[in-house]
Amino acid sequence: MSKVIVENLNLFYGDFHCLKNNTLSIKERKITALIGPSGCGKSTLLRCLNRMNDLIEGVRITGRALIDGKDIYSRDINLIQLRKEVGMVFQKPNPFPLSVYDNVAYGPRVHGLYKTSKDAMEAVVAKSLSAVGLWEELKDRLDVSALNLALEQQQRLCIARLLAVEPSILLMDEPCSALDPFATLNIEELFLNLKEKYTIVIVTHNMQQAARVSDYTGFFLLGELIEFGNTKTLFVNPQNKLTEDYITGRFG
Ligand SMILES: Nc1ncnc2c1ncn2[C@@H]1O[C@H](COP(=O)(O)OP(=O)(O)O)[C@@H](O)[C@H]1O
Ligand SMILES: [Mg+2]
Repeated sequence: MSKVIVENLNLFYGDFHCLKNNTLSIKERKITALIGPSGCGKSTLLRCLNRMNDLIEGVRITGRALIDGKDIYSRDINLIQLRKEVGMVFQKPNPFPLSVYDNVAYGPRVHGLYKTSKDAMEAVVAKSLSAVGLWEELKDRLDVSALNLALEQQQRLCIARLLAVEPSILLMDEPCSALDPFATLNIEELFLNLKEKYTIVIVTHNMQQAARVSDYTGFFLLGELIEFGNTKTLFVNPQNKLTEDYITGRFG
């Protein structure tokens, strides 16, 4: 089942035509990787899926992006609801300068959830930290500052922070690029667990990572989606010469 359908999407930063008529569909509870050289528009496309580009001046978007069949660029879309539904994780872990507990409780509080029940909030914090593999190591230290955690823990915490508001889609923009190789493998394992419940889109310049974790891969070049398909097929038997040149390291 397609969770997200992008249709003839174009994005302009002022006069610069950044995304060129992108059409792709993203399957529910699968991991889709977006690969391609730096500057080809991967982050821009990712930001289109929760309308983060709206915040950038001079951006113009045409085409459609449907989530569960509804165009998120239609007028009646509730942006707060959209960003709750579609969470985003960035390159550099960016926990708030608050305790571990308050980081995870932050989203539910902003959305006015569990206001009347401390127990319910505690349960959500525990559940979210468990889902990212942090509960056992942090359950007795929920009041330490998130900034004192190791980088891998910080990135896990940033994911837990999203899970606390019950999203269905997780957007990850080069989520491992600040991590060492071991932490990277640990986080990749986490993604494989998370896809049981969430639809994941991961931008990565690391082709091995795309090959290891994703079910589907899209290869972008200068704002154009050159090839999209099953990850194994794309890496083993690319249909486009440009894809082949890129994955065999002839440019990038
Ligand atoms: N806010 C912006 N204003 C103008 N141009 C931008 C902006 N953000 C990105 N770009 C340009 O759009 C292109 C795609 O950028 P980006 O989506 O960040 O690529 P990638 O994530 O693949 O490296 C690049 O040429 C970049 O310079
Ligand atoms: Mg980027």
